[in-house]
Amino acid sequence: MVKFDVLSIFPEMFSSPLNFSLLKKAQEKGLLSISIHNIRNWADDKHKMTDDAPYGGGCGMVMKVEPVEKALNEIRKAVENSVVVLMTPQGEVLNQKIAAELSCKKNIIIICGRYEGIDERIREHLVDREISIGDYVVTGGEIPAMVLIDAICRYIPEFLGNPESTKNESFCANLLEYPQYTRPAEYKNWSVPEVLLSGNHTEIELWRRKESLKRTYQRRPDLLKKVKLSAQDKNILDKIKQEEI
Ligand SMILES: C[S@@+](CC[C@H](N)C(=O)[O-])C[C@H]1O[C@@H](n2cnc3c(N)ncnc32)[C@H](O)[C@@H]1O
Repeated sequence: MVKFDVLSIFPEMFSSPLNFSLLKKAQEKGLLSISIHNIRNWADDKHKMTDDAPYGGGCGMVMKVEPVEKALNEIRKAVENSVVVLMTPQGEVLNQKIAAELSCKKNIIIICGRYEGIDERIREHLVDREISIGDYVVTGGEIPAMVLIDAICRYIPEFLGNPESTKNESFCANLLEYPQYTRPAEYKNWSVPEVLLSGNHTEIELWRRKESLKRTYQRRPDLLKKVKLSAQDKNILDKIKQEEI
């Protein structure tokens, strides 16, 4: 069971995306739990302010340190060995390895920034890990937090109907997945590759490996440098390169 605690000033944003399909079923089965906390509940002043103007001037507002620290203290009392993650475009860029690592944690607390971001002292003193969903800036940490939760959950045992799914998936072995098809076999003269209809599993596996290597070579050659290629893979790749000439 993995427990997520999410700190946000817009908790309502989380209600629907996390309550559909596999994420919903996994919560019902008790494989994970997601609690969303409104940071304003830990703001002391009568206006429940969670942000203030930046020291030194400049545009926008900055999220204050006190409400976030108080929220963390209270949530940490209820959970053991938590890891505190800050969503930030300045963090390590999320990938399958990070998602798999975090899926082994029991308690994950996620802080969502807003506006110009958070008071730097939150990052310095209260956070274990900083994660970005990519080299671009979105308005707030809520959508990045949902992306992170979804990516982590795929690695929780029993989350996916077939746990083998994560083993063949794009990025798992630094390869992109092969193309997939389903019925009908023929649609507007667009046909499914014959090998997939052959029932010959050895041939199908070989075709899938070739397509996976080809896709990765064409779209993400940077990934191929990290793959341990077998002699057969090298052979296949040589042929793919020759076909291109
Ligand atoms: C508008 S952004 C602040 C960006 C900040 N001023 C900067 O330049 O680094 C507000 C919040 O959205 C979240 N955020 C924005 N882009 C993100 C990304 N790529 N990955 C993760 N979180 C992001 C963070 O929580 C951030 O504190």
